[in-house]
Amino acid sequence: MTAKPRIALIIGSTRPTRFADKPAQWMLKQAQARQDMDVEVVDLRDHPLPYFAEVASTLHAPSKDPEAIRWQQTIDQYDGYIFVVAEYNHSITGALKNALDQAYKEWNRKPFTAIGYGSVGGARAIEHLRGIGVELQMVSTRSAVNIGGSDFMAIFPMFGNKPIEDIEAGLLPSAKAALDDLVWWAKATMAARAAA
Ligand SMILES: Cc1cc2nc3c(=O)[nH]c(=O)nc-3n(C[C@H](O)[C@H](O)[C@H](O)COP(=O)(O)O)c2cc1C
Repeated sequence: MTAKPRIALIIGSTRPTRFADKPAQWMLKQAQARQDMDVEVVDLRDHPLPYFAEVASTLHAPSKDPEAIRWQQTIDQYDGYIFVVAEYNHSITGALKNALDQAYKEWNRKPFTAIGYGSVGGARAIEHLRGIGVELQMVSTRSAVNIGGSDFMAIFPMFGNKPIEDIEAGLLPSAKAALDDLVWWAKATMAARAAA
């Protein structure tokens, strides 16, 4: 029997006044309510990575920067990931892209899902994330949580600033589907990695 997957919920925005904490805490609660995974927050604010400055991709050359090495050691501990995705100009944040680039084998053959937010629920940024995940040899779940349109406006501080629970009825089915998929792929890839 495979052990319970260890999942990192990675907060992809580091702005001092970021909105990310609202969706991050909600998604953490959904994941913690389940018995089939152990989830921990990994906040990019706690990993002050330099812009990538290694001699080559970490696929080809080990990193020299101590923060990059610490980041790789952090990522390596997990069997799957939930990315909290802000959409900046139709893509993921620069901070998240840099963090993805600063590891390679630690991401390989592991699954991820996402909770995105913005005018269209971070959908364009999540699609970019999925493309990046392919190159990192990751598996994306089909489902993700998208907080968009009037739901985003209702809970965004500059507009409605309502609690996220006011709109959660519309999010719960996709959160369940995303986390179900994540656990399925985490167990499958854990078993496959162990057998390889
Ligand atoms: C540089 C920048 C670009 C943005 N581009 C988009 C965008 O393409 N689509 C969108 O829905 N929101 C966009 N926004 C608005 C963000 O959805 C909003 O600022 C959100 O709070 C960002 O997440 P964060 O506060 O967790 O960093 C952008 C915000 C910034 C700062």
